[in-house]
Amino acid sequence: MSIRVRELSEALGAEVLDFDPSVPMDTATAREVREIWLQYGILLFRGVDWTLAQHIAFTESFGELHIMPRLATEVPVNLQQHPEIFVVSNIEKDGKPIGVKRAGWGWHSDGEDKRVPNMASMLYGIKTPEVGGDTGFASTYRAYDALPPKTKERLDGKLARFSRVEMHLVNYPNLPPLTEAEKRDRPYVWHPVVRTHPETQRKCLYIGRWAVEIEGIPGDEGRELIDDLTAHISKPEFTYIHKWRPGDVVFWDNRCTQHCAIPYDDSKEDRYMLRTTLEGDTPFHLAEDGRRVESFLVSPLEV
Ligand code: SIN
Repeated sequence: MSIRVRELSEALGAEVLDFDPSVPMDTATAREVREIWLQYGILLFRGVDWTLAQHIAFTESFGELHIMPRLATEVPVNLQQHPEIFVVSNIEKDGKPIGVKRAGWGWHSDGEDKRVPNMASMLYGIKTPEVGGDTGFASTYRAYDALPPKTKERLDGKLARFSRVEMHLVNYPNLPPLTEAEKRDRPYVWHPVVRTHPETQRKCLYIGRWAVEIEGIPGDEGRELIDDLTAHISKPEFTYIHKWRPGDVVFWDNRCTQHCAIPYDDSKEDRYMLRTTLEGDTPFHLAEDGRRVESFLVSPLEV
């Protein structure tokens, strides 16, 4: 099979044409889809009408499914009958949320606050607003490639500390604070700021909204650098903004892209999206001098 695609932007992304992801793939087709996914970073399938089981099966053809951890509150994270499916929605039923509201309102890649972040995510749009509710995607390959040589040198082999505990209420002011047990489950993690993609071997910028400091760079200066790098990643020349239609499926590679659910007036229109997520691998960086730098965890007590 030779799959036809249409590029979504100069930076990244392709729409896969004449392809129904609800139909099981043979090995050769699965290999071809993976190749174009690695090439474009995100793939879009349009007009998809599938069952939850088909959504799960298509995702599983790319790796091992990840189950999003429950919150210690009554906000339901996953579908009750299908914990493999994470619910992103502003909808409430009988005064109670049916999923996580305002999930991903800020540039990030999924699971960046864990030692083994998620390899990929697949988001299916069911109810999509007429106005707003778009998702931005950024190529962190392109963002890295465009850095001035001095900044590349400065970041080569450096680690950044990511903290769910410190950033939870900054990123999710609408959610209750983490409980002590949740804090214990979320130790800090250090990741290489420049990450080598394990399949393409290309370098990309690996920073995001859970990052709080950069190794060897004092507090405010490090924080400023994180903000500058985040602003750099989200420049128009590295991004594609997806305007959702019901039936869209977007499948992204968290190792070389970032995404952001762009804030919109969610009091006006419903948005209902279902996401599957895949397990990943420990990030690493192959430095210019041949050193290999890997992510590692630090218990909150050690910092
Ligand atoms: C996410 O961060 O996975 C949610 C993205 C979105 O809802 O657009």
